[in-house]
Amino acid sequence: MEQSTQQSPHRYNHGPIRDAMAQVNYKIAILSGKGGVGKTSVTVNLAAAVRKRDMVVGIFDADVHGPSVPKMVGIKTEMRDVLRGSHGIDPVESEHGLKVMSVALIWPTDMTPIMWCGQYKARVLRQFLSSIKWYEMDFLFIDLPPGTGDEPTTIMKSIPDLDGMIVVTTPQEISTMVCSRAINAAKELNAPILGLIENMNHYVCPDCGRIEHFFGKDRGERLARTFGIPFLGGIPLDGQYSEAADTGVPIVFKYPDSLTAKAMMLIADRLIKSLPPRENVVVKARAWEEGRDHPKY
Ligand SMILES: Nc1ncnc2c1ncn2[C@@H]1O[C@H](COP(=O)(O)OP(=O)(O)OP(=O)(O)O)[C@@H](O)[C@H]1O
Ligand SMILES: [Mg+2]
Repeated sequence: MEQSTQQSPHRYNHGPIRDAMAQVNYKIAILSGKGGVGKTSVTVNLAAAVRKRDMVVGIFDADVHGPSVPKMVGIKTEMRDVLRGSHGIDPVESEHGLKVMSVALIWPTDMTPIMWCGQYKARVLRQFLSSIKWYEMDFLFIDLPPGTGDEPTTIMKSIPDLDGMIVVTTPQEISTMVCSRAINAAKELNAPILGLIENMNHYVCPDCGRIEHFFGKDRGERLARTFGIPFLGGIPLDGQYSEAADTGVPIVFKYPDSLTAKAMMLIADRLIKSLPPRENVVVKARAWEEGRDHPKY
């Protein structure tokens, strides 16, 4: 099996976390400069799109203070009681086969505030990461907290052999500006950038099909070109997208024929093809390309 040539910075002893992730093929973190750009929605739907390619997919919700992945994939947080075994913590599987772990799933109640901070938070997060048993997995997506502060940086440094980062932005000038900072931060950490996704890229009028660019046009693509990173694609502004997330079913499962679901599938396919080949992932990818086991979407 081929290994990534670029390693994450080794400021920590990766031993226990590396053991917990030993059977994970690709580890990819999702980063944004600004909060609220749709990073978690992108993480969940990208994971769901890759899952539709018959891959085994996990999501680590690393947003300690605003964990929202379980809700977006329809995992009820009352399931938390069945999680903890003596050997570690097993991820919880969603109805559509996404394996998820989040602080929300090990916390006493949704109302209990999580007041970890500073060095303590970094230690607890690393301990949490080392306790999760991911088992055999093709892709693990990590939904980072917004920004480039202490928390996302600690997590990025804590994941051994991170394959890279995907940066999410929106077409607004402010978002692309802050996103440049996130790209530079990832570069400083030697984390390869696998690509940029522009969320809320355009709006298609459901009645007349007219395309509007409410927030600006082509900024994401230009930003990707400026930094020499791949532009993985744009996702439309779409009421069905947020409605699907609110009901706990990613749009690629709920409305597979929608333009947004198709945009997500395209992004997932571009991502899979751009990664260095690893044996079992290649076998599965070839199967769907040849139409065998082709997912019905
Ligand atoms: N393309 C889109 N079309 C319509 N609604 C969207 C789109 N992308 C995201 N949203 C909605 O915007 C809201 C914020 O999205 P999300 O939680 O994914 O952002 P985030 O970047 O993870 O936020 P935070 O910085 O708080 O973690 C959600 O209600 C989501 O459903
Ligand atoms: Mg989020």
